[in-house]
Amino acid sequence: MTATLPRLHREDGADAVVAALLEVGGVIVEDMLDAGALARINAEVDPHLEMADPARAHLNPAVAWFFGKRTRHLTALAAKSPSFASDVLCHPLLLGVCDAVLGPSCARYQVNVAHLLDRGPGSDAQMLHRDELVWVHVPRPHPELQVASITALRDFEKANGATRVVPGSHRWPLDRQPEPHEVADAVMPAGASVLYLGSTIHGGGANDTANVWRRGVHLSYVLGWLRTEENHYLATPPEVARRLPRKAQELLGYALHDALASGGGYLGAVDLRDPLEMLDDGSL
Ligand SMILES: [Fe+2]
Repeated sequence: MTATLPRLHREDGADAVVAALLEVGGVIVEDMLDAGALARINAEVDPHLEMADPARAHLNPAVAWFFGKRTRHLTALAAKSPSFASDVLCHPLLLGVCDAVLGPSCARYQVNVAHLLDRGPGSDAQMLHRDELVWVHVPRPHPELQVASITALRDFEKANGATRVVPGSHRWPLDRQPEPHEVADAVMPAGASVLYLGSTIHGGGANDTANVWRRGVHLSYVLGWLRTEENHYLATPPEVARRLPRKAQELLGYALHDALASGGGYLGAVDLRDPLEMLDDGSL
C-alpha cells in the first residue's frame, strides 16, 4: 500500500485546498493553469532553458550534490517569463492559500523562491527534506513559515521523477524518517500543482526515463519578515520589476512589511519610503 495525496481541482477553491493542506501536509490541485497559460509559459522559458547548463556550478559541494548535474535551472522566473509572473506567481488560488496559512503570522507574505527545475533523464532522487529548515534559527514550535508549490509544465509521472511528498510528516518530530510506503508520488498532468507546507517532508523523484525532461516550477511563499532564499531585489531589479503587475511587485518584496497595526513596525523601506511608490515615480 503506497501513500497518496488528496487530489482537488482549482474550482474546489482555496478553503478546500487549505483544509487538505493543513490536514495532510500536501495536496494536488489539477487545472491550476489552462492550456493557453501553460503554452505561453513553456514558450517563454524555452530559449532560457536551451542556454542552461545542467552541470553548472553551485555554491558548494553539498548544494551541487543536492541538485546533481542533470537538472537545468531557471531562477528568478518572474524576471524571465511575464506569463509566469501574472498567471502563476499571482494565481488567485495560491494567494488564497497563503492568505489563510501565512496571513495570520505576518503583515504580508512574499515570494521565497521562483525557480524552474527541468530535471533531466538520469537525475537521482533528491534527498527528502523540509524546506523550512533553511530558517533553522526560528525557535520551534513556530507557525507555518512557508507554503510551497510545484507546478508541472510537463506531465509528472513516477518514471520521470514526480515530486515525492510524505503525507502527515508536517506533524512528525524532526528526527522521524519516512518508510518507503509512506512516500506519495505527485503524479499529475501538466498544468496541475502539488502544494505542500514548509514543514512537510518531500523531494524530487528520480528521472529513470531515457529522454523525458521533467519540467516543473518550484514557487514558494514565506512570511514577510523572514529573509528569502532568492534575493529578489538583485535578481528582479527595479528596471525589470517596474514592468510586472503590481501584485507581483508586492510579492517580490518591493512592498513595505507594515506591521504597525499589530504593534510592530516597518520592514523594507528605502530612504524611509515605500519602494512601490518609488517604482511608480521613477526614483528607483
Ligand atoms: Fe524542497
